[in-house]
Amino acid sequence: MTSFGAIEDSQEAAKRNLWLHFTRMSAYERSDVPVIVRGSGAYVFDQHGKRYLDGLSSLFVSQVGHGRQEIAEAMARQAAELAYFPLWSYAHPKAIELAARLAELAPGHLNRVFFTTSGSEAVESAWKLAKQYFKLIGQPERYKVISREIAYHGTTFGALSATGITSLREPFEPLTPGAVHVMNTNRYRMPAGMTEADMAESIAEKIEFEGPDTVAAVILEPVQNAGGCFTPPDGYFDRVREICDENDILLISDEVICAWGRLGEWFGCQRYDYLPDLITTAKGLTSSYAPMGAVIATDRVAEPFLHGANSFTHGFTFGGHPVASAVALANLDALENEGILENVRANESYFADKLDSLHDLPIVGDVRGVGYFHAIELVKDKQTKESFDDDEAELLLRGFLSGELYRRGLICRADDRGDPVIQLSPPLIAGPEQFDEMESILRSVLTEAGERMQVHGN
Ligand SMILES: Cc1ncc(COP(=O)(O)O)c(C=O)c1O
Repeated sequence: MTSFGAIEDSQEAAKRNLWLHFTRMSAYERSDVPVIVRGSGAYVFDQHGKRYLDGLSSLFVSQVGHGRQEIAEAMARQAAELAYFPLWSYAHPKAIELAARLAELAPGHLNRVFFTTSGSEAVESAWKLAKQYFKLIGQPERYKVISREIAYHGTTFGALSATGITSLREPFEPLTPGAVHVMNTNRYRMPAGMTEADMAESIAEKIEFEGPDTVAAVILEPVQNAGGCFTPPDGYFDRVREICDENDILLISDEVICAWGRLGEWFGCQRYDYLPDLITTAKGLTSSYAPMGAVIATDRVAEPFLHGANSFTHGFTFGGHPVASAVALANLDALENEGILENVRANESYFADKLDSLHDLPIVGDVRGVGYFHAIELVKDKQTKESFDDDEAELLLRGFLSGELYRRGLICRADDRGDPVIQLSPPLIAGPEQFDEMESILRSVLTEAGERMQVHGN
């Protein structure tokens, strides 16, 4: 049996046997793989005992923070009582209780919950659900899904097809037919001659272009993560809802990140006051003490599936796993009993102000976001908004920022799926102390980054 008492042994095995996701393995040829061994609250600790502020909630997942005994105990109790039973023809108490609780928290008539184990599976399921829904109601030609450029919706084929990031799509083409893309709500880089109102209209135009009778769904995040927290302009979702209604198209709110308090509400759609037909979610539903995702559908969408020989011919062995369901319930208890959504609402402007204070640095072009979900866009020239070219972005993000922020004790993400941004999304239990710490690390690292990249002036 292999055991890893020594750090060197575990480093060797990490490099030899472990396949890291979305990671250039070559990056660790001459340096250690960062190995995180423990978490507590808003902090995690590496193999050497060094502490890091978890400024990304690990991967936008850790709403209630790390190391919670009561969630670990809820998992252990459930594993001892009933570790597993499927939701294929059967039910179990924790999935029933959780579905009822999600229906109660969700707005409007979003009352029917289909569990998955991840966000990609939730998006995949929602698209399949939309397609089958239209077949059941006699509109079989509707199969397309409209999403936005640079949006990330996951990695399974359907979800990847909805994803609007060319570099992620290219290696796997041809993708699922029927995914089409429209402009996102990047208001910092509004195309010349366009207005904010055009952003929603681009969806209407795409529907017209594709043929309204061929489109099944529009899938949008309340705030788009990839590209760096693109918030919607005023009236955007009102108009999107209207466009979907006019064309009998389902609106899917992809809340894999934006639910569970991330924007200060249970669901992101509540922050922007719109009612989707389907919500996809995952991540913070369990604060990721166990993997779980879900699609929440309105009664109207579920209705055709409830009669005669009809069924949603789709499922996952581990969808609604009892242990994950018990975790989700314990997580929701913590969010509710400890007033964690209220904590986000009380402190979000302090967080935003702290990040805004970095505007005096020449490299900081834009700071945007809402709730505990923000991004800082880095630029070469603040006046002209000139961005870094590919080589410069590579040098800035991978050659310096990612490593340096980590070395200084801040976990966040330096990302260039759009223009270069730093993404910040701390656990929802964080407060002023963590935001001060974050600002101070960012200030010194971004100052040095600006000097290295020879960004001058304001
Ligand atoms: C908006 C959105 N949708 C879908 C996904 C895919 O989720 P998962 O990685 O759990 O498959 C993500 C993941 O980050 C996401 O942010």
